[in-house]
Amino acid sequence: MSLDLRSDFLGPPTAAMVEAMAAAAMAPDGFGPREATAQRRLEAYAAQLLGKEDALFFPTCTAANLAAVLAQTAPGETVVADAESHCLLSEAGGLAAVGGVMVRSLAGEAGMLPLEELAEALAVTPDVQRQPVRLVLLETTHNRSGGLPLPLAHIEQVGELARAAGAGLHIDGARFFNAVLALGLAPATLAAPASTVSLSLNKGLCAPNGALLVGSADIIARALVMRQRLGSGVRPAGALAAAGLVALETMLPQLQRDHDNARALVSALRRLDFAAGPPAGGTNIVLVELGLDPPALRRFLEALAGAGVLAIGFGPGRVRLCLHRGIEEAAIPQIAAAFAAARTALDTLPLEN
Ligand SMILES: Cc1ncc(COP(=O)(O)O)c(C=O)c1O
Repeated sequence: MSLDLRSDFLGPPTAAMVEAMAAAAMAPDGFGPREATAQRRLEAYAAQLLGKEDALFFPTCTAANLAAVLAQTAPGETVVADAESHCLLSEAGGLAAVGGVMVRSLAGEAGMLPLEELAEALAVTPDVQRQPVRLVLLETTHNRSGGLPLPLAHIEQVGELARAAGAGLHIDGARFFNAVLALGLAPATLAAPASTVSLSLNKGLCAPNGALLVGSADIIARALVMRQRLGSGVRPAGALAAAGLVALETMLPQLQRDHDNARALVSALRRLDFAAGPPAGGTNIVLVELGLDPPALRRFLEALAGAGVLAIGFGPGRVRLCLHRGIEEAAIPQIAAAFAAARTALDTLPLEN
């Protein structure tokens, strides 16, 4: 069977998650949108963990991100975001198409926004021609830069600038706990500057599905209406929430194994003269710069799959690998060997590191 590193949502759930799901599925409870016992427990646990007033269960992090925007903006208002963020690149234009917001994208550095430009954008005085900036979006860990966590100081600076201008700060935290672990911080410390944080339960945390939006009671109350409007109010939610609760309660320390394996994989690939990164400070994502044009990259990925490793193309000439619970340390040499085999198959790869 192939080693599938195309995403960390492919990490298998633990037996405890499956048992909790089965038990909740056998006894569905709750009619209202937040009534299921497991859902209430999950939402309360997440809110407490992040030091916020409330949390709301979503089926996907995309829906949680969109509800966060809808709950904190009105159509025509401006949202400032990093140009390389998942919200702008990979969420089907939901902010514009569904939220009707103006997006001002800034060229960030590994997800960090240029503060002077952000301050300039926030300084606009609303008038008959100009709508205010209502929300700033950050993403941590930052997917496009290879899973790098944003420094806490940067999140605090952005939060401060946003607050001073009367805007909110939403963190797309699909991999928030990878950032928490990499920085050695309490989740509430990293969440403190934000008005809302979305969390994926199904990535490194390995729940089969699910996400959360965490924030103040009034924002979550608005997000509840938006969740319904988006058709994202799962009912009954008990089975998914039960697995999600086990994920939150048990999986946070387990993410370290994925970070260690990512580091080991970077080293193994570099020993073979592949330009693999990110270096120290990264989390569970590995990027390999191959310098190939799109057809050659496609052939490389096919050869890699033929050698038993599945990965995705990620920008020009680049491959992304996500480490997760389904990839053991013992598989690292096999993954590196598959890269070498794919290179031989292609026979045209540059060797510079
Ligand atoms: C940074 C980031 N945000 C949001 C999402 C969306 O998650 P979902 O697939 O649950 O909608 C992803 C998915 O990979 C992601 O990487």
